[in-house]
Amino acid sequence: MIILSIETSCDETAVAIVKFNRGKVEVLSNIISSQANMHSKFGGVVPSLASRMHLKNMAPVLKRALRQAEKNCRRDADLSHLPRTRDKSRFYERIDYIAVTNGPGLIPALMIGVQTAKTLSYTLKKPLVGVHHIEGHIYANWLRSIYLNSKSNSLAGGQNYKLWKPKFPILCLTVSGGHTQIVLMKKDLNYRIIGETVDDAVGEAFDKVAKILGLDYPGGPLIEKMAKKGNKDKFKFTRPMINSKDHNFSFSGLKTAVLYNWKLENKKEKCRIGEKILKQVQNDRLQYKADIAASFQQAVIDVLISKTIKVAKQYKVKNVILGGGVSANKELQKQLRKTINKKIPNTEYQILNTKLSTDNALMIAIAGYYRIKNNKGIGDWKSVKADANLRLKLF
Ligand code: KG4
Ligand code: ZN
Repeated sequence: MIILSIETSCDETAVAIVKFNRGKVEVLSNIISSQANMHSKFGGVVPSLASRMHLKNMAPVLKRALRQAEKNCRRDADLSHLPRTRDKSRFYERIDYIAVTNGPGLIPALMIGVQTAKTLSYTLKKPLVGVHHIEGHIYANWLRSIYLNSKSNSLAGGQNYKLWKPKFPILCLTVSGGHTQIVLMKKDLNYRIIGETVDDAVGEAFDKVAKILGLDYPGGPLIEKMAKKGNKDKFKFTRPMINSKDHNFSFSGLKTAVLYNWKLENKKEKCRIGEKILKQVQNDRLQYKADIAASFQQAVIDVLISKTIKVAKQYKVKNVILGGGVSANKELQKQLRKTINKKIPNTEYQILNTKLSTDNALMIAIAGYYRIKNNKGIGDWKSVKADANLRLKLF
């Protein structure tokens, strides 16, 4: 079965073409065109600009994905019987299903991907599957766990993988720019949200703190880099809701605490410039930023880990996984693994390939495959609608 998948929920225009064959996965192509540089000047994603960029990028990304997949398929005995012509677009004939992120996300951005998928589904008469964005982030783990044993870390296309056969229940901590959720899965496609943020998402908090410190968008990777040089105990930021009875999160207060600290530091610095040479002040400022980054990151990690461990114990889960852009954070991965080994040693922790942490269409193809396999939510071109507030369903 070959799935063509599309992802445009935020600022990445992504198309993947993936072949599934009895538990084996061949990534025929996996193209991501990021708009991060464009949004960087505005300090965050501008929805109308994202929409325009998706419109501009969709056809070239689709074309590249098809070309690459066609090239990779030439070596494939299973597909060689299909007619090969000079017209590369004939590769469309080999696609069995179209999968697309239909929410949640920015509606002007989602609509471009959904409309493209609907058009492909209608013209090619292929079934269409709408995939929840977080479902994609979760199912990215199903591919990743296999090539832990492999030397290849690339997901550029043309590689073979297998699908993970996990033991349930699984707990997934999904941490992205738009979401922070603890999701419990008792079986495939069965999602129960145990806790979620009541205000900002973790990635959003990383991006806002980065903006305060004068760093570019997306700020998460830059904060992580800066934190390496900082002292995580320098500033004692509160750990919001760490002891709350529910399993929810809150991150907006933490961002405000950083802002106040920053304003105070700026006042102090103005007084010091007269006393010290400028170079010394600049060095002090760099160290201050690194300390803020490290202290903020540690406060976030403490809350995320504490809540995850609590829920994992309560529901006696067999596996803990991470998903979403913030899961690329090596410090979070490292500390989570260490705490799981110490506090719940019978639970396994699966490491997600960093290349699959942030938005991509490959994860949508994998989640789409499970939808198709379990016959959930497959329809014709009319069956899928973009929904900015789509909720994870308990199938
Ligand atoms: O999943 P994603 O690509 O898009 C959404 O679904 O929102 O996540 C993007 C978010 C951004 O907020 C970005 O700053 C954050 O993930 N992020 C990180 C790291 N890499 C990306 N946050 C912390 N540490 C990182 N290494
Ligand atoms: Zn995402």
